[in-house]
Amino acid sequence: MSYFGYVVKAINENEFIGVYEEIDIPEIEDDEVLIKTHYSSLNYKDALAATGVKGVVKEYPFIPGIDVAGEVIESNSKNFLVGDLVIATGYKLGMSVNGGFGELVALPSNWVVKLPDGLSLLSAMEIGTAGLTAAASVKKLIDNEISLDRPVLVSGVTGGVGSIAVKLLQNLDIEVHGISGKSNEDEIIKSLNLKNLISRSEFMDEPTRPLDKAIYAGAVDTVGGEILAKMISKIELEGSVSCCGNVGGMNFTSSVFPFILRGISLFGIDSAESKIDLKKELWERLATDWKLDLSQNSRTISIKEVDQYINKILDGSHSGRTVIKHGE
Ligand SMILES: NC(=O)c1ccc[n+]([C@@H]2O[C@H](COP(=O)([O-])OP(=O)(O)OC[C@H]3O[C@@H](n4cnc5c(N)ncnc54)[C@H](OP(=O)(O)O)[C@@H]3O)[C@@H](O)[C@H]2O)c1
Repeated sequence: MSYFGYVVKAINENEFIGVYEEIDIPEIEDDEVLIKTHYSSLNYKDALAATGVKGVVKEYPFIPGIDVAGEVIESNSKNFLVGDLVIATGYKLGMSVNGGFGELVALPSNWVVKLPDGLSLLSAMEIGTAGLTAAASVKKLIDNEISLDRPVLVSGVTGGVGSIAVKLLQNLDIEVHGISGKSNEDEIIKSLNLKNLISRSEFMDEPTRPLDKAIYAGAVDTVGGEILAKMISKIELEGSVSCCGNVGGMNFTSSVFPFILRGISLFGIDSAESKIDLKKELWERLATDWKLDLSQNSRTISIKEVDQYINKILDGSHSGRTVIKHGE
């Protein structure tokens, strides 16, 4: 018996190719479930996995896809029945365990969450790891009691994580300012209703001071590198910053002043490895009081179209969320 999936193969050390082909159905072990993937989604990490970027996937051939929403079709777990609708994100899924770019995935049951009432399999993948990361980032700011009547700054606002972070903050009645490489003319920028759009190049033009004018109660940085240092310098007393991305670079240089003179907190977000109970809590919130309509900023594609969207993510022109529908 076999199923179809998007398999990435190494042609040589530096060249990789994605092929849609048949694969043998895996056998599940104790406490595992076999899930029929209805939808997956495309995240920055998937684009890295699909193009062989070092340090992401250990061995090829491999099926990427860090997000899965589907139906349990076989279960060796007391916690899941055949027919249960489920979501799985992160851990080793799409990293060393074949992921959601395949029509079937075999996973340990403790990586899997039941689809909460209030979400469909499609809307869960409009959220995906990007949305879960945005929710974890916003939760850190709120739990750390940032001032709610001052603006929050978000970088990479048109990306998956950034655009969802903007919407979550706005739903909490927080004023959001965004940094972007895109312009006011872009449809996605218009749809975000930002109070203030800051051009990424203008933001980075001036040198970063150890302490700048304190404008923001907090920030969500999806970009990393020097942009993070600059964002930190503009946070007010007792404010907080959630740092979750590295599309703009790994390294940044700051000083101790924002931390010792303004009491700022810098939180690292790792949604992939976060505890399953936190994931359940975030999915529950995203299905209820933090529920968003993401349909306007999401598109649904077939797995056979994924290559062009991988390229968009890698060249920085991707915006919003891309959901992958299987069986098309
Ligand atoms: N820590 C975690 O748990 C976690 C989970 C998910 C994702 N992430 C990370 O979060 C980041 C965003 O992920 P995503 O899925 O939202 O990706 P995405 O959809 O590709 O969005 C990234 C956005 O960053 C901006 N950008 C792109 N290239 C840039 C560059 N060279 N310099 C500065 N900005 C750039 C663009 O927005 P603008 O054009 O609007 O500037 C782009 O839309 C990635 O680094 C990803 O690995 C982390």
